[in-house]
Amino acid sequence: MKFPTLFDMTGRVSCVTGAASGLGLAIAEVLAAAGSHVMMVDLDAAALETESARLRTEGLSVDAIVLDVAQLDGFEAALDDVVARYGRLDAVFANAGISAGPGFALSETGRIEHLQREKWEQVLTINLTAATWAIKAAAKHMCAQGSGRIVVTASIGGIRAEPFVGYAQCGPTSGDRTGSAQRAGECHCARTVPDEHRRRAVASGT
Ligand SMILES: NC(=O)c1ccc[n+]([C@@H]2O[C@H](COP(=O)([O-])OP(=O)(O)OC[C@H]3O[C@@H](n4cnc5c(N)ncnc54)[C@H](O)[C@@H]3O)[C@@H](O)[C@H]2O)c1
Repeated sequence: MKFPTLFDMTGRVSCVTGAASGLGLAIAEVLAAAGSHVMMVDLDAAALETESARLRTEGLSVDAIVLDVAQLDGFEAALDDVVARYGRLDAVFANAGISAGPGFALSETGRIEHLQREKWEQVLTINLTAATWAIKAAAKHMCAQGSGRIVVTASIGGIRAEPFVGYAQCGPTSGDRTGSAQRAGECHCARTVPDEHRRRAVASGT
């Protein structure tokens, strides 16, 4: 897959979290096909190994790093290591996110009286805190470098609250990948970053 007319990332270094599947994998593949070296981060070691190996066999330049982005210091250290090895950091996609159960319009468990503290904290940590710390860790290098792009995969649920979007209940087979309150925070966090960092939030699901 080549995208020479879309954009050129030759000589650039990028990092994508949640890169073992879905949107993150597609983003990593497009960046690498456009010439960037891509650090693929995910906590699913098996999927990450399979997909990064596949991209390498296609001639793309990727590294795989097994990491839980909730380990905030670990992610920052990984970015520090990339800059130490490659001398630059041009794009960071804070894309990793966990699924949340559907809202009350679709499920009884989506009602506010069924909200569980543990699940709320889990979604908050991954979808808001880790994304915010990823911006922070990337900005440190991009400010020093004087260039860079940070993109956060948020959700339409962070812009518009709908009864079919859950508060935070997690369920791996729910098919719903957001928690409206956490995503709203993520959108606002991205908007608050100074424009010198060229911040972008993608409202997935639109
Ligand atoms: N697909 C949609 O319709 C949709 C809608 C709204 C928001 N989103 C958001 O878009 C992003 C990508 O969604 P997707 O549909 O590609 O999901 P996906 O489940 O296919 O991929 C998410 C990836 O993130 C990884 N991940 C999860 N938690 C992690 C952690 N703590 N550390 C490292 N990696 C972790 C998973 O292993 C997985 O590979 C997510 O943030 C999701 O919440 C997606």
